[in-house]
Amino acid sequence: MTNLIKYASLRGERLCFFSLLMILFILVSCNSQTIKYVSIKSQKTTAPPAIFLNGSIINSLNKKWIFSFYFDRSMKYKNSLFEVASLTSLLNKYNLNEEVNSILLLCADDYQGIISFDDIKRYDLQLALRIKLSKEQAQPDWLQPLLIIVPNNVKPPLLERFLTANIKELRFVSLPNYYAPIESLKLTSDVSKAGLKTFKDNCIFCHSINNVGGNKGGSLVDKYALSLDREKQRFTEVFLKKHGIDNEEKQNTKQFLTNNSLDAVLKFLQDITIK
Ligand code: HEC
Repeated sequence: MTNLIKYASLRGERLCFFSLLMILFILVSCNSQTIKYVSIKSQKTTAPPAIFLNGSIINSLNKKWIFSFYFDRSMKYKNSLFEVASLTSLLNKYNLNEEVNSILLLCADDYQGIISFDDIKRYDLQLALRIKLSKEQAQPDWLQPLLIIVPNNVKPPLLERFLTANIKELRFVSLPNYYAPIESLKLTSDVSKAGLKTFKDNCIFCHSINNVGGNKGGSLVDKYALSLDREKQRFTEVFLKKHGIDNEEKQNTKQFLTNNSLDAVLKFLQDITIK
């Protein structure tokens, strides 16, 4: 009997010992996995270079004074002049890896613009360092350098995207990574998808969604209950007041939209509010 008890307790001890070893093994292997994972993650999140504006790189670029019909047309100005440097020549100064394909434009007034390298090359986009408006033109507060300027030898579609001003910092980013939090929204219809595109080209710079974009105009999703018809009506009315022709701030965003595209934006915003 005593032998039996001894044997059982010995077995118990061995079992305890082995289970301890197992737990230790599991802990160690989990831990080394965590370490691996963190190190991969931190490698990935290493920020690509920011461009510091007083830096020698900007100073080393060739500059010239140009007009921009694109700018004058959208502002209803005449003969505005800009001292510009070519953004393509700025890109050529960097040895960038393939992961980055666009420049994030961080602006003083909580505006956040973004332009792809493809658009920079396709439309020969320029970075304006100085502005000279003709005397009779009033200059709203936000109209400060640096600015994105479309030169006269190209004709991109008329979009808010190509009129970013008051830029204080440029950062290289990956477009898919940047837009990931809004691309993951599952949109139900083609109208809604068209609305997202219009929103990305014209609105998100001041009305962020899921932390993508700027906050100059605040979040629209929070301000309107868009499943209600009267709220859609209110949205449209306030939009025309804030962004119609000749508003005080000269934020004439309406010029970039057709009636259908505002409906699509509303459908898109309604779609993501329900989710
Ligand atoms: C240059 C920045 C900017 C852009 C681009 C912009 N907005 Fe705005 N928006 C503002 C500001 C600033 C306000 C005023 C916010 C306030 O009064 O609190 C505003 C207000 C609004 C309002 C009224 C919000 C309220 O408080 O009731 C609507 C609706 C609106 N914007 C829609 C749009 C849509 C749609 C687009 C794209 C087609 C757009 N905006 C593009 C800056 C912008």
